[in-house]
Amino acid sequence: MLGIFPKKVEELKRNGLYRSFLPCSHLAADHGCATHEGEHIQVWCSNDYLGLSLHPEVVRAQIDSAVEHGTGSGGSRNIAGTSEAHVELEARLAAWHGKERALVFSSGYVANFETLSTLISAVPDIVVFSDASNHRSLIEGILRTGCRKHVFPHNDLEELEKALSLYGEDHPKLIVFESVYSMGGDVSPVREICDLAERYNALTFIDETHAVGTRGPTGAGLCEELGEHRLTFVQGVFSKAVGTVGGYVTGPDSVLDYVRSHAPGFIFTTSLPQSSMDATLKSLDLVQRGDALRRGLMENVRHLKGALRGAGVDFIDAESHLVPVLVPGAERVRHVSRRLLEEHGIYVTPINFPSVPRGTERFRITVSPLRTHEQIDGFVAALRKSLASE
Ligand SMILES: Cc1ncc(COP(=O)(O)O)c(C=O)c1O
Repeated sequence: MLGIFPKKVEELKRNGLYRSFLPCSHLAADHGCATHEGEHIQVWCSNDYLGLSLHPEVVRAQIDSAVEHGTGSGGSRNIAGTSEAHVELEARLAAWHGKERALVFSSGYVANFETLSTLISAVPDIVVFSDASNHRSLIEGILRTGCRKHVFPHNDLEELEKALSLYGEDHPKLIVFESVYSMGGDVSPVREICDLAERYNALTFIDETHAVGTRGPTGAGLCEELGEHRLTFVQGVFSKAVGTVGGYVTGPDSVLDYVRSHAPGFIFTTSLPQSSMDATLKSLDLVQRGDALRRGLMENVRHLKGALRGAGVDFIDAESHLVPVLVPGAERVRHVSRRLLEEHGIYVTPINFPSVPRGTERFRITVSPLRTHEQIDGFVAALRKSLASE
């Protein structure tokens, strides 16, 4: 039986779907840089959007907490794995997003999958309306339940409304979407989706993974930036701009209380260690008063876009801090990535199908506020050279 796997792996390789992981050890003292096979390299695709994973106060908070509380939580949330820091963090997240309750999960993926699958399974006949560009964790959470669903074209309000209008006012409905889409860097029409949800009596679940820390006056995300409070559930992560690890969902007290008691991926797994929670709490202090960080991020994004434009590099001029550079062709994007690494010591992950449609392969470039303009110019010059020689 195991004999089928070498063939399956070969098939992945033939179809250009085989994934290679580049081992790189990020350097806290040298932002945006890492070591790879003994070489010093620059990393231009990290989700550490604000550079907080290496902030001395965040690192210190994690070290101090580990010294005091150890490196593991020793149990699930149910079995002595709920530290006082977990409780404090959940209260703080609920208040930050203006919701009744928050639950912290071991990752953003788990937060989405567990909350959606548990919530949807609990509501008989619920119909789910899911944006076509939703992240895999949202898709899998919905699929797990076998519920009736409509996948509407990305950000297409007309098609969403058409689908919503198929059901009576009292029919349970849930709209699932993101605020900032990471592969295209575009944002969703949050207000208009909330208007539709109100008109058709639907619940809403928004994934703010890429907006937490980067949008809103205190970094709570796009909903905060827009002053939009109507969302039923707001999800976020610590693994991107907050610079630590974990994910969460905020929303109505009774629903999350139910999820807390039923979601297998919340109950039957060891909780994140207290040191991680304490680092996250410290990082949230910096995020919440981090207006200068967010301004610095967007200033560097503007500089990057100007440099790309000047170099004639094809990119998507999206509204967020994410800058997709188009390098169509699965082989080509891999070659350019390899050339950048071998000739310039620069790493960007090639992004292929199924993460993006075939023919739209790309790099997803990120710059933190800690990058200098000189570094950005150097990166763009190397990118231009590598693209030209492919
Ligand atoms: C939109 C979206 N949601 C959820 C996740 C999962 O978050 P995590 O990496 O914390 O599991 C990601 C991760 O890339 C994402 O892009």
